[in-house]
Amino acid sequence: MTTPDVLALHGGEPAIAAPFRKYNSIGAEEKEAAVKVIESGVLSRFIGRDGGDVYGGDVVRDFERRCETFFGAKHAITVNSWTSGLIAAVGAIGIEPGDEVIVSPWTMSASATAILHWNAIPVFADIEEQTFCLDPQSVEDNITPYTKAIMAVDIFGQSANMRSIMEIAKRHGLKVISDTAQAPGAVYHGRKAGTLADIGGYSLNYHKHIHTGEGGVIVTDDDILAENCRMIRNHAEAVMEDRPGSDLVNMVGYNFRLGEIESAIGIEQLKKLPGLIETRQQAAARLTEGLADLKGLRVPAVEAGCTHVYYVYAMILDIAALGVPKEKIAAALRAEGLTSVSTKYVNLHLLPMYQQKTAYGSNGFPWTAEFSRKNISYEKGICPTAETLQDTSYMGFGICHYELDDNDLDLIISAFRKVWRNLDKLV
Ligand SMILES: Cc1ncc(COP(=O)(O)O)c(C=O)c1O
Repeated sequence: MTTPDVLALHGGEPAIAAPFRKYNSIGAEEKEAAVKVIESGVLSRFIGRDGGDVYGGDVVRDFERRCETFFGAKHAITVNSWTSGLIAAVGAIGIEPGDEVIVSPWTMSASATAILHWNAIPVFADIEEQTFCLDPQSVEDNITPYTKAIMAVDIFGQSANMRSIMEIAKRHGLKVISDTAQAPGAVYHGRKAGTLADIGGYSLNYHKHIHTGEGGVIVTDDDILAENCRMIRNHAEAVMEDRPGSDLVNMVGYNFRLGEIESAIGIEQLKKLPGLIETRQQAAARLTEGLADLKGLRVPAVEAGCTHVYYVYAMILDIAALGVPKEKIAAALRAEGLTSVSTKYVNLHLLPMYQQKTAYGSNGFPWTAEFSRKNISYEKGICPTAETLQDTSYMGFGICHYELDDNDLDLIISAFRKVWRNLDKLV
């Protein structure tokens, strides 16, 4: 018989015997709501022409009004993905080709490609170790006469430092876009994350706290930005024919429209969001209680007056204190049954597209265009904190992807504690 304390990596019994239950927030309510739409026969009522239906059908609008109430924003605008939402947001602020938008490298690729879609230039600023979100000092250091906006990303489930970012933006006359894809319902000093910027919004893709398969919601308090987003969502160039004298800047329309079925599902999902957040917060609190005393492991920190909705439970390892590289620790945890522990997130600036500055065509457009600043750097070293986290100290667990009960959480804690008791065997 194997002794309980032999690492599974070395032939012992794994601490976690069976895979965890997958997270599934879709139930009878969503089914009933979707069937109702199907029975109505109206799966979308959008038309890319001026008139009432330019804003979509009844269910789309109902979902939008409910998002406005829940998130506390004057306008909510649904879109068929948050990638679409980000593209609409960047266009809506009146971006010009060659304008620079300062963005985090520690985010999903769409945050930056939404900028490139308008032939504007992503400039990567470093992140804070505490939150994995933009470091206001690095934002300030990266401002040039070309800078038009800042895109703050509320990564892993908590808000960026919006007080400082909004103050910097105000001082330099910049717009702020908040990519809150991963933090719907998180609170930042009394307001919902995503609503503090000029434009923000959330992803409704399958992996998120609430989803409609694919989808997204833009939020803003600004009437003009809201209308710009609605137009870019729906064939703006055609709608503008019926709006003589209107501002045509970036009124190149797409079809970013969300359907009635997805919106009906979204309404039911939104009702569940507070409860879904609470279960994730309780799970994270239990993990933190069980892991906080492990040497060399930093559990997520939440600023006073703010909440975290734990899309990812992100930890930082003090490799010097542990004496073992994180890949070895992660391999040991995976062997114990914690299969989804990850040691990598993203350093966007190091993607081949940025390294080779190859986006549109083969000649380096838009970086080589005459309207762009020529000395944009994506070299390794420009974001030292993000790079160190990626290379040596970040470890994360996708807490949102499972339905974890107390027993599961205790098993996770026991897996960590077992690996920590045996760190010397990993050296
Ligand atoms: C931080 C972030 N931004 C943008 C997106 C894009 O959202 P979507 O998949 O809805 O297009 C995601 C999706 O994973 C994300 O996590």
